[in-house]
Amino acid sequence: MKPPRKLHIKSYGCQMNVYDAQRMVDTLAGEGFVESASVDDADLVILNTCHIREKASEKVYSELGRLRVMKEEAARQGRRMNIAVAGCVAQAEGGEIINRAPVVDVVVGPQSYHHLPELLARAEKDGRALETEFPAEDKFSFLPPPKPDVIRARGISSFVTIQEGCDKFCTFCVVPYTRGAEVSRPVSKIVDDVRRLADHGVREITLIGQNVNAYHGEGPDGRTWSLGVLLRHLAEIPGIIRLRYSTSHPRDVDEALIEAHRDVPAVMPFVHLPVQSGSDRILSAMNRKHTANDYRRAVDRFRAASQDIAFSSDFIVGFPGETEEDFQATLALVTQIGYAGAYSFKYSPRPGTPAAEMQEMVSAEVMDERLARLQELIDSQQSAFNKAAIGTTVGVLFERAARNPGQIVGRTAYLQPAHVMAPETIIGQVLPVKIESLERYSLLGELASSLPVVPAGSGAQPAINAHETRMGA
Ligand code: SAH
Ligand code: SF4
Ligand code: F3S
Repeated sequence: MKPPRKLHIKSYGCQMNVYDAQRMVDTLAGEGFVESASVDDADLVILNTCHIREKASEKVYSELGRLRVMKEEAARQGRRMNIAVAGCVAQAEGGEIINRAPVVDVVVGPQSYHHLPELLARAEKDGRALETEFPAEDKFSFLPPPKPDVIRARGISSFVTIQEGCDKFCTFCVVPYTRGAEVSRPVSKIVDDVRRLADHGVREITLIGQNVNAYHGEGPDGRTWSLGVLLRHLAEIPGIIRLRYSTSHPRDVDEALIEAHRDVPAVMPFVHLPVQSGSDRILSAMNRKHTANDYRRAVDRFRAASQDIAFSSDFIVGFPGETEEDFQATLALVTQIGYAGAYSFKYSPRPGTPAAEMQEMVSAEVMDERLARLQELIDSQQSAFNKAAIGTTVGVLFERAARNPGQIVGRTAYLQPAHVMAPETIIGQVLPVKIESLERYSLLGELASSLPVVPAGSGAQPAINAHETRMGA
């Protein structure tokens, strides 16, 4: 038997890339590859890239510079190291990568990962291989599912892609070009994936998509199902305790989604709902298709349905033409909503997007200064949110042994890491934890009861509501 070949994969960017990386590993397992944490002795290195901002894209070329040295060293030792570039930079700049970086053997766009074995074979034969078409078939129908031992090794929380691509065309964003048109996977395929994961120990599923609440997949009844309907259905699958979804667009918040938050305890009361700006003028220039008040109304609808719901968001500062007054509107919106956390970015012009052609660039100094002010406000909200957990009893889904011996770490409904001293048998269960202190971003506490709240694998509804979050408050 041939010894397994080593595959090292490095992902940048969003959770879609994290998920895709796993699917590439699963596909290449069939070709005799095993995943390796070390790059030095890898037979195949895949850079799974992100194109969203300039900084993200640039990382590819500096990484390829380092890999060239390693590849040459491997060749001196008589080993061949293949290098593949996948992800959104591959899609956007595939031809350029081939021209600029002779070290690269394979370039593969995000919709063609099921062709990886074939592309590697072609590269062995012809020297290089490139595929950045959007194939007619759906890659998910061809990517093999992970094996049971692989699922177990990946832990109790898993991503599942339900929708890919985007039709929104925000003027700053590359995603509609790199991931293509919006496509929803059929419900039956998603259910198969979730069942398989749950059967092998997964307890929490995060449904992912670039525009996840635009989901409109074919249901088993022949009708089109929305995200809210899908969540309700997945919550019935034995073993699944928690459901999350990301990333949502404010415009696609429909009644079924709100009702899922109201009625389905497994749906976690934590929603990532990017707004980008609080100024209607800027939102319009961004082609976001919603106003600041539309966003406020969406948040209010969630809050009316689920009292303990919390939000996170994404912001861009320094979009072309953004004035101090526009920026003040963003600060006002943040103050009014009150976030559990948020990501904020300086605007980065992306080649091929409409915003890259816009005049009135905001200067680097002003961008830096606005970013610092916004981040200060968000940090203060995040830290207040985390501090509010102290003294309360919250439900924690335990994930793994922590670095400190004897400690187990899990997450609250709001994804805050929480540590307790406990035996490893609690992994995979939601248990109430009395929170005693906060260390940076981690909550420390003790088990409020040694009884399992949800017998792992029973599929029983949690005895404490999965909305269990502020029980002591
Ligand atoms: N689909 C999601 C966002 C995907 S990209 C949504 O619609 O919100 C993740 C985040 O990157 C975006 O929310 C935005 O805040 C940021 N981003 C996207 N393009 C950017 C650009 N050109 N410059 C700076 N930030 C950008
Ligand atoms: Fe990009 Fe806008 Fe689509 Fe989000 S909704 S992926 S920001 S184009
Ligand atoms: Fe980046 Fe592509 Fe995700 S550009 S953010 S990896 S969809």
